[in-house]
Amino acid sequence: MAFTSVLAGLGAVTPSNIVSNEQLAHMIDTSDQWIRERTGIEQRFICDTLETTSSLGLAAAKLALQDANLRPQDIDLIICATSTPDKTFPATATLIQAQLGANIGIAFDIQAVCSGFVYGIGVVDAMLKAGQAKNALLIGADTFSRILDWSDRGTCVLFGDGAGACVLRAVDAEEANGKGVLANVLRADGKYADILNVDSGASSGSRVGKLRMEGQAVFRHAVTNISEAIIDCCAKAGKSVDDIDWFVPHQANKRILDGVARRLNIDEAKIVVTVQMHGNTSAASVPLAFDVAKKDGRIKAGDLVLLEAMGGGLTWGASLIQL
Ligand code: ACO
Repeated sequence: MAFTSVLAGLGAVTPSNIVSNEQLAHMIDTSDQWIRERTGIEQRFICDTLETTSSLGLAAAKLALQDANLRPQDIDLIICATSTPDKTFPATATLIQAQLGANIGIAFDIQAVCSGFVYGIGVVDAMLKAGQAKNALLIGADTFSRILDWSDRGTCVLFGDGAGACVLRAVDAEEANGKGVLANVLRADGKYADILNVDSGASSGSRVGKLRMEGQAVFRHAVTNISEAIIDCCAKAGKSVDDIDWFVPHQANKRILDGVARRLNIDEAKIVVTVQMHGNTSAASVPLAFDVAKKDGRIKAGDLVLLEAMGGGLTWGASLIQL
């Protein structure tokens, strides 16, 4: 039997503390005006000491399961996309699995930084189509506040914490009636690892490390790579960019979103923008934005939705989903 991966549920959460640009301006040499003009960010959510990637991921996972009307024991594949796991091992997905009480099937993490959720859609889609699972829970969760150098104003103003999750179900392709993940494009180019990375880790320095970034270089790659991924993904699905009802991009910077929109002649009214609220939440950013636009009624059943992201690695990609 041929399977299609159909989106069955969605959920997202942000941590308890909101930190505005003005609050940051009391801590470091920056201003609300500089941050807004360069990035579009107005505030971000930051974890308190008890909140972790797994606690946020668990909360988002429960909402996605509720939305899909499924129980934890129905889930036979859990993937968590994160670059800020609670522990070096075990995988955050297994911690979430245990707390959900879902102890059958497969659980592991994906590390593709800000592209993690889009990479996750590609991996889940391939596994469901191969018959390896029936009901998959994909979580994108990150707590970048824990890896920021709070004395580096060029990076610490950009990021926030959060988590989002979706349930994808393997459905008989004929019964799916055109719904489901239509195409995925996943790419990486490791020669650019140095322009966006964390400067230490378990096997090289024995500390968690801090995020380092060459902002302008990342910016240039982002607009080019994301645009190409969108075009390739549409071509793979036999669709045109104009066919897409909603673009749900990774929320790194409003100027990156504007740059891609200009390059591909996308109507800005079709782009979901939440960067002003959340900042860059890495693997959580796409499902957080998706959830906002679904809850406020913009994204509806029957819509054609494109998800895209680029992140450290460099990694990037796009997924096209017919709801
Ligand atoms: N507040 C005030 N001034 C600042 C701040 C700040 N927070 N940060 C940097 N500056 C200063 C710099 O020190 C510099 O001052 P100088 O001219 O006196 O030397 C000046 O502002 C300009 O700095 P640039 O780094 O050249 O600023 P730029 O216009 O490139 O904007 C930014 C920086 C916002 C990081 C931009 O390069 C960018 O958006 N890059 C994309 C990076 C990104 O989004 N990364 C996220 C991860 S990857 C992804 O998710 C796609």
